[in-house]
Order: sequence, then C-alpha cells, then structure tokens
Amino acid sequence: MAEKHEIVIERTSSSRLAQIDFANLTFGAEFSDHMFVVDYIDGQWVNPKITPFQNLSVSPSMTALHYGQTIFEGLKAFKNTEGEISVFRPLEHAKRLNTSAERLCMATLPEELFMDGLKTLLKVDKDWVPSEEGCSLYIRPMMIATDVALGVSPAKSYKFIIFTSPVASYYAGSVKVLAETEYTRAAEGGTGFIKAGGNYAASLLPAKNALDKGYDQVLWTDGKEHKYVEECGTMNVMFQIGDTLITPATGTSVLSGITRKSIIALAQHWGYKIEERKLSLEELKEASANDELKDAFGTGTAATITHISHIGIGDTVLELPAENEREFSNKAQDYLTRLKAGQAEDFMGWMEKM
Ligand SMILES: Cc1ncc(COP(=O)(O)O)c(C=O)c1O
Repeated sequence: MAEKHEIVIERTSSSRLAQIDFANLTFGAEFSDHMFVVDYIDGQWVNPKITPFQNLSVSPSMTALHYGQTIFEGLKAFKNTEGEISVFRPLEHAKRLNTSAERLCMATLPEELFMDGLKTLLKVDKDWVPSEEGCSLYIRPMMIATDVALGVSPAKSYKFIIFTSPVASYYAGSVKVLAETEYTRAAEGGTGFIKAGGNYAASLLPAKNALDKGYDQVLWTDGKEHKYVEECGTMNVMFQIGDTLITPATGTSVLSGITRKSIIALAQHWGYKIEERKLSLEELKEASANDELKDAFGTGTAATITHISHIGIGDTVLELPAENEREFSNKAQDYLTRLKAGQAEDFMGWMEKM
C-alpha cells in the first residue's frame, strides 16, 4: 500500500448513541457506531475504511477459528473538561500489537496505519467518548487470520479491526488473589508476553477454580517450578517489601504491560526504589510474617491500579495493610487518574491528543 493511505468513511444511517445510558455503563456491553477495518491481501494492507459497527461474515474454515492466529490490544480514550479527546500511550499499543503479530507469524501493521485508523475512528465517534467522571472509551484493536483453508501454517491474509466501547470506571475495590501452583498460563519460550487470544482461553479454568474458592483472580506463578510470581489475569503485579517496590521481570512469560512500564517510570521519577526481578512466593510469605509486606497491587489498562487485599498461597493467606496506608500506589493512582482527566501535568508526554 502507498505510504499515505486514504481511509474511506462510510457513516451509519442509524446511530445508537441516543440509546446509551452513559450514567450506567457496563464494561464491554455497548459498542460505538463505527469500526476501522483494513485487510492484508497479497502482502499488502489494502482498503482501510471506517464502516458502521457490524457482524463479520466468515467461512467456518477461516484459519483464525482453528489455529488461533488472533491477537488484540486494549487501550482507552478520555475526554477532558474542555471536551478534548486524548488516548493513553497509543503508539506503545501499536508496537505491542506488532510484537504479538511477529510471535504468531502474522502480518505486522505499519504504526502510522494503526494511528491514522484510530484517529479517524475517534473523530467519527467522538460523541461516544464519555465525559462522566471515571468513564472512558475502551478501544479494542484486533487482528485475525482470514485464510479459508485447513492445515497448520501461517496465514497469508489478515483482517485488522478497531472497535470501541464506552465504559464506566472499573473501580470495584481491592481484590483477593490466589497463587496458582498447579496450572500454567505461560511458560518461558511460549506466548505469555503477547496478547494472543489463546493465552486467555488457557486461563479460564484456573480462574473459575479461584472464584469457586472465594478469590477474585489468579496470581500466576512460573510454569517450571511454580515458585515465582508472574502476573494476574489482566494485570501485572507489584509489591512493596520494606521500602522497595518489586515487580516480576517480564521475559517471555509475562505481558509487558504499558501501565506497568508507566508506573515503573513514575516510581523512578519520584525517587522510589524499584526492582524488576524474580520474586518467590516464599519471599512474600516471609516479608508478610516480618510485617515488611507493605503493598501489593495490579496494574493494567482496565483498572489502572487495583489494590490486592489478600494473597492465598496454599493454606496460608497473607493479609495486606489497609488501602489508605499504601503511599506509592495511592500516589500513582491519583496521578494517573488526574492525568487522564486532563487535570495533571503530562510531564512524561503520555497523553496523545486525537
Ligand atoms: C495478561 C495481562 N497482563 C497485564 C495486562 C496489563 O497490560 P496493560 O497495562 O498494557 O493494559 C493485561 C492487559 O492488557 C493483560 O491482559
């Protein structure tokens, strides 16, 4: 495709905007009027367009349905009090999409095309970005293999789509997590570091088991020994032991979260001690027994920061200090919330105006 691509816009004739109750949004239940679509055919991305949000018509033999060449991203757009729309670190998401594509032998997407598609879509659907406090427009870019064939091999054709969903503040209090020491979500050398659909399918049964035991989420451990902490279902994790923040190093089994990266940068900027390294369940238990486990929280696009109140490790339950006693995570949460609402200085240059 030529360097500068023309995005054709086909507007809906029947907007659903008036039917949306922006005061009572449920996560992922409503979809905005339009979507961005571009196809990869014969080695080129072609026909980029904005169309009404609609169903896809696919063959039962479409390879994504069988062999799992499906990847996605999740990011958010915010409206400030002046009505301006900004997205948190969109280029990072475009880059991570391509990391995912490369690992699954899929076509990579030029970053300019990702950004132009996103900007055009948000212009067309700007009224779908909620202005209510704590609300945002969740953006879901996705890519699927569209070959019509049987047989395991990298597809030759792909479809990239961006659609969006207005969502409310995700805040639902702190969570209880259960360390998983039997099942594995991801192993070194596998696909845990990318956003591949299959990773999430593999997490469902252990997540259900954790819910049945009264926990909210699984705390994944390494696939080899089940000794070291990795991450939670849709968030990276950080701990504070004494005065040091510790987050598991990412490697190939942990998603390199964009919120994680941002929080590490903030911690460094504010002069906190932060380490990216292996962290064992034993070390957590010991720190808790010595009253040194000061904080535990998850980081991710959905919730920004979610405090962890309890960590189940076998028969032991570690109880964390009350949320209001946690200095760093509250400070980071407050800064990111105000930044996204356009009320804090963007000294890192993370908010991209659309
Ligand atoms: C498995 C997993 N870990 C961590 C995260 C957090 O990543 P990010 O901060 O980029 O949203 C997500 C969400 O994307 C995720 O799905």
